[in-house]
Amino acid sequence: MFLAADRPTTDLPADLPAAIAALKQELNAVILAHYYQEAAIQDVADYIGDSLGLSRQAAATDADVIVFAGVHFMAETAKILNPNRQVLLPDLAAGCSLADSCPPEAFAAFKAAHPGHIVISYINCTAEIKALSDIICTSSNAVKIVQQIPADQPIIFAPDRNLGRYVMQETGRDLVLWDGSCIVHETFSEQRLLELQARHPEAEIIAHPECETPVLDHARFIGSTTALLNYSLNSPSREFIVVTEPGIIHQMQKAAPDKTFIPAPPQDNTCACNECPFMRLNTLEKLYLCMRDRQPEIQIPEEIRLAALRPIERMLAMSA
Ligand code: 13P
Ligand code: SF4
Repeated sequence: MFLAADRPTTDLPADLPAAIAALKQELNAVILAHYYQEAAIQDVADYIGDSLGLSRQAAATDADVIVFAGVHFMAETAKILNPNRQVLLPDLAAGCSLADSCPPEAFAAFKAAHPGHIVISYINCTAEIKALSDIICTSSNAVKIVQQIPADQPIIFAPDRNLGRYVMQETGRDLVLWDGSCIVHETFSEQRLLELQARHPEAEIIAHPECETPVLDHARFIGSTTALLNYSLNSPSREFIVVTEPGIIHQMQKAAPDKTFIPAPPQDNTCACNECPFMRLNTLEKLYLCMRDRQPEIQIPEEIRLAALRPIERMLAMSA
């Protein structure tokens, strides 16, 4: 496997944002970035969003090249929607612990053990898992999608057990959960959150639904990255404890410089474990190099792409 990280980086231009802007013109490219990307990447992106927003942008683009500053499953989703466009990812090793927690063979057996269930999969999964699913969802539409399924229809929800539990709580539905999780969102501890809240009693706790239930129980607001951003901008509160990957704080601070955003600490204060190690593999240098060299590129076997496209299209139609 060729990784962007393997390339020599000695011949980098001094002004990377300018060089990236020039390549964007030359390639007729669009740069889509997730909020968990480092600030320098967010600052050169054409669009920054949550998984649903990024999928919608990928479905609507007329660019020839999609440069995806995010993780592999996101770039894969863009490719599933755009088989005839080139989709570049700055570092092919930018994976996802949640996607990795659901291997296709084991999931196919799990599905076979639950006949009559429909499969709703969180977008944080591989193309192979999408191909085994009936409907895809994201953190911003999971509740809405489950609510549209007839009450007597049994549902498997994969791969995130924490989002699944949250959806069960919100909808009152009983879901069969795949036992997967995100290493970043599981790093937040209830105890450390409460200690932080005691030091900032005025701060509102806002959290991503990939967090565990004891943490979510303390949140005033729970939502996708875009929902967290919008909530923090619209709330009259001046201070927020943000319980998700701290990359999102860049946009919060830009849009509301007079408010204070405090990243929730990881359980172990000696690490930066609240930063997604996969998202952070992408750098501005690798973004430039992938555009200059037009690789690494996302490729998906056509049979899997077609099977994975169906549940993504269903999601887009159900969350229009
Ligand atoms: P959203 O941006 O859709 O909320 O997803 C968060 C996430 O974990 C992406 O991997
Ligand atoms: Fe995956 Fe978690 Fe990183 Fe999101 S934050 S990409 S779910 S490992």
